Amino acid sequence: MYLNREEQDILEGKKGEIKAKALKLLVEIGKQNGAEELVDIQRSHISGVSYKTAGDPYLQLLEDMTEAGIHVSTHATVNPAGMPRKGWEQLGIPKKFARKQRRIINAYKKLNCEMIFSCTPYSIYPPRKGEIVAFAESSAVAYVNSVIGAKSNRHGSLDALSASITGKVPKMGLLFEENRKPSVLFKVNFSPSSQMEFSLLGLYVGKKVEKGKNPAFSFPSSPHTGDLKALGGGLATSGSVALFHVLGVTPEVKNTQINDLIGVETINVTKKAFRQFIDEKKAQIENPDLIALGCPHISLKRLKKIARKIEGRKVLESTKMWLFVSEGVIQKAQQEVLEPIKKAGAQIINDMCPVVAPLKQIGIESVVTDSGKAFSYIPRLSSGVEAYFAPLDEIVKRWTK
Ligand code: F3S
Repeated sequence: MYLNREEQDILEGKKGEIKAKALKLLVEIGKQNGAEELVDIQRSHISGVSYKTAGDPYLQLLEDMTEAGIHVSTHATVNPAGMPRKGWEQLGIPKKFARKQRRIINAYKKLNCEMIFSCTPYSIYPPRKGEIVAFAESSAVAYVNSVIGAKSNRHGSLDALSASITGKVPKMGLLFEENRKPSVLFKVNFSPSSQMEFSLLGLYVGKKVEKGKNPAFSFPSSPHTGDLKALGGGLATSGSVALFHVLGVTPEVKNTQINDLIGVETINVTKKAFRQFIDEKKAQIENPDLIALGCPHISLKRLKKIARKIEGRKVLESTKMWLFVSEGVIQKAQQEVLEPIKKAGAQIINDMCPVVAPLKQIGIESVVTDSGKAFSYIPRLSSGVEAYFAPLDEIVKRWTK
């Protein structure tokens, strides 16, 4: 791989051992994927923030970095943690967990990351169309590539951190135009009726997409941005999808029609097959411990919608309703949005992700969500916790009065 003088100096340890290791990791990833050079980036998004998924070795690594005086050289934002910075005691987060979680938070702060604690960094700092970025957090990668038209490969926590420290990524994969074209078309013969259905459609289709392929969709009517966010979250959960297209809607295929996709494999998605998929997964539960909304974190538009729906109602005493929202969105929301939610007894929670929170340890064993991603990951990451799904309307109808 070609490395310029600056990159060679970093690799030879002239900027310190940690930067050398970080660049070495990126060079190795690049070599394995046929990259011939590195490219500079100005923006990155880091995952690996919850102590639950990061664990002690990652915490140690972060603290070694801060001791060595390392700082990020990009505008680096961070994913949600396993608890909010304030009010974690009231949620029942164990002190032992909180202590480690705070050390991780402090370490990222010392690295000079911007502490947004959100998986929707694009809603606060949207990258430009065509801008090369290094994002971890698969749903955010899918969104910025697909809905904005920025360019990011799907990074893991370590390589996104390495990219943030060095300001470099290997030039490979989705950074090349030729790798961004639709490679399989899903002709959907119905319009999903809620964000939950878009999210589950993502789950349904994601596992049918081979690694490295970019699914394109045709729908009878155009999905909204929130629908695309939900679709991308589902696709990135059950498959390794980092970029999807919706014909006539998303920026790279705005003027593309089905007939333009010559030689592209087509798969029909019928309402009947999708219903069957949903019905197989849909489980009944009377009294969930928790209703979790906001995976990915709720946008301002959706928060307003939820406020309208639950205004004048009360969450049943037998359950909790937590809305996961970034601080940036809470700050933009007016009192008329926040008040009805609070009055209904739902809690707006910032900084935190329901999937990487210590749910079992805080006494939660059953969760209802409208997110395919949360539905899929919660039981996998929280042993002994069951997840169920329901659309927002049903949630309001069944668990508020
Ligand atoms: Fe965000 Fe956590 Fe879901 S990071 S996308 S709320 S799994």
